[in-house]
Amino acid sequence: MKQHLVMWGILLSLSIPVAAQQQSMELSMGKVSLQFQLSTDGQPLYSLNYDQKPVVRPSVMGFVLKETDSVLYSDFTVLGTELSAKDETWQPVWGEVSTIRNNYKQMIVHLQQRHAPFRLLDIEFRVFEDGAGFRYVFPHQPKLNYFIVSKELTAFQLTGDHTAFWIPGDYDTNEYLYNTTHLSEIDNRKAVETATDIAVRTTPDPYAVQTPLMLKSADGLYINIHEAALLNYSAMQLHVDRSSFSLTASLVPDAVGNLAYLHAPASTPWRTIIVSDKAADILNSKLVLNLNEPNILPTTDWIRPMKFAGVWWEMQVGKSTWSISDRADTTDTNGNLIPNGRHGANSDNVKRYIDFAAKNGIHGVLIEGWNTGWEDWFGNWKEEVFDFVTPYPDFNVKELNSYARSKGVELIMHHETSGSATNYDRRMDSAFRFMKENGYHSVKTGYVGRIIPRGEAHDGQWMVNHFERMARKAASYQISFDAHEAMRPTGLHRTFPNWMACEAGRGNEYNAFSTGSPPEHETILPFTRLIGGPMDYTPGIFKMKGYCGYAPDRQMHTTLVKQLALYVTMYSPLQMVADFPEHYEAHDDAFQFIRDVPVDWDDTKVIAAEPGDYVAYARKEKGKENWFIGAITDENSRKMNTPLSFLEKGKQYLATIYADAPGADWKTNPEAYVIKQFLVDQQTVLKLNLAPGGGAAISIKPLTAPAPRSVTRYK
Ligand code: NOJ
Ligand code: CA
Repeated sequence: MKQHLVMWGILLSLSIPVAAQQQSMELSMGKVSLQFQLSTDGQPLYSLNYDQKPVVRPSVMGFVLKETDSVLYSDFTVLGTELSAKDETWQPVWGEVSTIRNNYKQMIVHLQQRHAPFRLLDIEFRVFEDGAGFRYVFPHQPKLNYFIVSKELTAFQLTGDHTAFWIPGDYDTNEYLYNTTHLSEIDNRKAVETATDIAVRTTPDPYAVQTPLMLKSADGLYINIHEAALLNYSAMQLHVDRSSFSLTASLVPDAVGNLAYLHAPASTPWRTIIVSDKAADILNSKLVLNLNEPNILPTTDWIRPMKFAGVWWEMQVGKSTWSISDRADTTDTNGNLIPNGRHGANSDNVKRYIDFAAKNGIHGVLIEGWNTGWEDWFGNWKEEVFDFVTPYPDFNVKELNSYARSKGVELIMHHETSGSATNYDRRMDSAFRFMKENGYHSVKTGYVGRIIPRGEAHDGQWMVNHFERMARKAASYQISFDAHEAMRPTGLHRTFPNWMACEAGRGNEYNAFSTGSPPEHETILPFTRLIGGPMDYTPGIFKMKGYCGYAPDRQMHTTLVKQLALYVTMYSPLQMVADFPEHYEAHDDAFQFIRDVPVDWDDTKVIAAEPGDYVAYARKEKGKENWFIGAITDENSRKMNTPLSFLEKGKQYLATIYADAPGADWKTNPEAYVIKQFLVDQQTVLKLNLAPGGGAAISIKPLTAPAPRSVTRYK
């Protein structure tokens, strides 16, 4: 790792004259500049400009604490300022690129209140070329040892009635469709679509939205507001003032209405603002990752990015069940549950998926519904449902794991907690020991339903701390995980690279059990949910409508080719190959793209991007010279010129283009595709035609032998 720390000056003085305190301090990097000042009554204010244009006008900072002398937002004086800078590169264990540059200027402002008990508060600012982050640090001090936050005042005073891509502020779920409106039109009571498989506790504030919040100003600035390194604090939502266009931090409360419990020394997560006049820069930004602490795990060679198949989609569409029986309260004369004959996780069916994975070079197989408890798991807020170690009688743990191993495949464990995080906490050690004894190295977790401890929310401090415990404990067993119904990511996978993915958004599965998500959904997610980290979206559905009669009125809201493109546009080191084996066999030629596409990358280029309309990426396979392109559009058909200028000069490549066929349409003709091969090089410009709700997927490999005569140069 190349790393150097440049101290570019320490402007420290312990006694800045009061007059000077009113002056603004500025920190800039490229086009981004951040100003800090104290108002006349000693209130901290910051503002942010991009290319001389205001992005955030002077906005307040500070807290109300839960005690008599609760004001921690005014009457401050500046004790001193520390300036520093850093320009380093680091290598993520897995990711969209193999090297990340972390280049910023930092200013720490030391504040003290002018009245007893003379409280100290530091604000740490970092400015990058693509935005800024800041966090509050509470130094160790008398009278601020243990404290409760009852309000965080951090504001983002925007400059106009920007277009916002938003989901309702909900303390328990991010599984919503995105709304695209002006700030002045935000009203989450009108966001009728709600999550269907999880208890929803919408904030009482009708004007609260979640982050990452994507904004576009009338004069063409793209602005993204989120947070980084959410640890020991509750998730930040934003209250929108619809007339002044000011956003204010709105923290998810706990069971008794408190927002966060802290012991000094302590710090908050970073509040982040990414800004550019190009949408692509928002997708390229590494600001959130860079604001997280480096990897803390002593070894990482056991962490494996992979594609995985699984006994899963069949339950989602209703072909089979998680449970072995339809009734929890009825047994046969031997006291056994009465099988319903539709249990998905039976050994024969699991072997079918293992064979499919082995045949196609897919490393993992996830099996849900393998363990007892599913008769009684949903909607009853029950403390003890699953023990995570008892298989159903038709699922032979040892035999299936050795069968998988003999074929070079590994099984992925599933721990649904049904929201009972306390039960999971108590049983984690035995659950992880069971995994290790039986050859499992990774687990998908889930928190469907209301959280236990009762009254806590999915996105509150209690669950944030639960996930930190999970990340640390899983790592101590060399276990990686993918959390569903978790709070949305904030870049913590830099610190805990075994925390490989989260769902925390409305995944592909909604097209199975609900009216689904419109074609624009996947063009918004990269600008919103994915800003904090990978999403387990579960792409790769090939049977687009009715799902073989199991859900006749349901359908995907994409073409088949767009499902291929999602492996590139929806970055994750864990990508499910979600459909039934037989549905892939029916389209073996298109399935070749899924066989080929990797999950770990050396490099990523954003080719085209506009939230709500389209995104296109080219990515280079880690350690290889192969490139993969994924391009997707919303409900509109689109032509997209794609220059291959990222290819190596003078080299010939074979491109395999998986395209929507003429006449393809997500609604009426989703399975129509054409596959063509061409010779391409650095000069080539591909002219792609994306169908309504469609896409394009392309693999590009260096030519190692003369191309067949039927393959011509791309024109
Ligand atoms: C919801 C998850 O998103 C889904 O993937 C899982 O199959 C079910 N919960 C059951 O755990
Ligand atoms: Ca659109």
